[in-house]
Amino acid sequence: MKVTVLGAAGGIGQALSLLLKTQLPAGSELSLYDVAPVVPGVAVDLSHIPTDVQVAGFGADDLAAALANADIVIIPAGMPRKPGMDRADLFAVNAGIIKTLAEGIVANCPKALVGIITNPVNGTVPIVAEVFKKAGTYEANRVFGVTTLDVIRSETFIAELKGLSTSDIKVPVIGGHSGTTILPLLSQVEGVEFSQAEIDALTPRIQNAGTEVVNAKAGGGSATLSMGAAAARFCMSLVKGLQGEDVIDYAYVDGNTADADFFAQPIRLGKNGIEEYLPYGELSAYEENAKNEMLATLNKDIQEGIDFMA
Ligand code: 2OP
Repeated sequence: MKVTVLGAAGGIGQALSLLLKTQLPAGSELSLYDVAPVVPGVAVDLSHIPTDVQVAGFGADDLAAALANADIVIIPAGMPRKPGMDRADLFAVNAGIIKTLAEGIVANCPKALVGIITNPVNGTVPIVAEVFKKAGTYEANRVFGVTTLDVIRSETFIAELKGLSTSDIKVPVIGGHSGTTILPLLSQVEGVEFSQAEIDALTPRIQNAGTEVVNAKAGGGSATLSMGAAAARFCMSLVKGLQGEDVIDYAYVDGNTADADFFAQPIRLGKNGIEEYLPYGELSAYEENAKNEMLATLNKDIQEGIDFMA
């Protein structure tokens, strides 16, 4: 198994790489790429951790070598938010970065599974899809926007609210990865009942949790450690799928729903990435309304990515 992290020296990239060094199956290769000159040092640092995962660092000019024969590519590269910014404000800078990296993937490992963290995810995932389409190598089952942070935040906040263990809570989160496009399906959390007041408080808390971190970091960036943990969890789902395990997870992907061209939904993972799109089930009236209200924003975000490539 070769996993490449693009943007490995940043805050998310380092946390993610640390977790992958300790969690990837023995015999895996972990390839770290970044334009920041510290990346070989990050690789040496991680290489001293005693696990059977080989780590190598690749600098700005070595994208091809970093990506060669990768099975999975995870992309946290790009600029993070500062207080007062929306994820959409990052589009101008991060669209070009994600396009260049996607072109590298097309050229060096077109069959890899690609997990995109770079914000705004609602628009960067369509960019990656368009780069693959232009090259004639697009397979929708291999491209994922990582929305696991919305899932783990939901698990944590619900566990806190209800005095439960996080390991007992599973929360479906659908839609996109920004503000109101993040829709936790609280009506589907097994074994937990919510009052309307709890739903009214919890839903926006989950939707704005990224901003909670941005404000708490006061200019120092956005979520890196929790995002690293979320991305590692999603990457391990991809790894298990490639190893032949039957895994169900959530991600922002192309296809299947009538809601939007890209939509976070439950998927069955396997040797080819997405093996099956699963229905997200029945929504409460509150959730149905929230979903319908978010679609204009989500579709605008998706169109921005497509227009960038046109
Ligand atoms: C977040 O939700 C960084 O988009 C990431 O905090």
